[in-house]
Amino acid sequence: MTSPEKMHPVGIIGGTGLTTLSGLEITGEKQVGTPWGNPSAPLIEGLLGDQPVTFLSRHGNPHRIPPHQVNYRANLKALYDAGVRTVVGVNAVGGIHPDMGPAHVVVPDQIIDYTWGRASTFFEGDLDSVTHIDFTWPYDESARQILIDAAGAEGVPFSGFGVYGATQGPRLETAAEIIRMERDGCDLVGMTGMPEAALAAELGIRYVCLGLVVNWAAGKSDHIITMEEIEAAIEQGMSGVKRILEVSMAGLGVLTPLPQSS
Ligand code: HPA
Repeated sequence: MTSPEKMHPVGIIGGTGLTTLSGLEITGEKQVGTPWGNPSAPLIEGLLGDQPVTFLSRHGNPHRIPPHQVNYRANLKALYDAGVRTVVGVNAVGGIHPDMGPAHVVVPDQIIDYTWGRASTFFEGDLDSVTHIDFTWPYDESARQILIDAAGAEGVPFSGFGVYGATQGPRLETAAEIIRMERDGCDLVGMTGMPEAALAAELGIRYVCLGLVVNWAAGKSDHIITMEEIEAAIEQGMSGVKRILEVSMAGLGVLTPLPQSS
């Protein structure tokens, strides 16, 4: 049993389809700033079951900030300053792997970064020394296992491995870009996985992705991608995502902070 003073709130960054977290018993709302600017929205504090949670809507509430203009640094720093040491990033993604069709849930284990021009590090400006963090395993393995166990217990169709290809957006990809990404080893494609994961690692936050497939990636079905299709998959799959979050909170809440965090 972890003593209360050692308990940290779990951060949830909600993406497309998860602007607010129903089921969260809200206890407070904080408009905060950081040296890197303002986060996308106020931090919503509450309880999910017995676990303190800090929720942040990645694209703002209402959903208005496109993936390439999200202030990822402010979002992660605001959560860190609020005491968060474990973050679940919920991401809507396109499915490339044949097993990963609409409404499927994926807990990826790797990332390939195709984004460009985003502020992607805290280590810049007037530095005392140059820092290169290790990023061999971009997602926290303990947190991944907790999400995987929760998905299994809840009977949600899921994959416990996968390579997330992070694209720049906001446009969707061409069919040829997806073929190239598949050749590279990508199973999923999304626009918000990076630099979020790397910034979390720089802060010493345990970070894990919970991906909901909302469409077949470009060229992987016999039709073009429509908003109707995406909305239908969100409608179908988001209840499973929320159940996984609820069931995994207690376990995530007692993970010890990584050594480099203060
Ligand atoms: N591509 C990139 N990002 C996405 C997609 C996609 O097909 N679906 C949801 N986010």
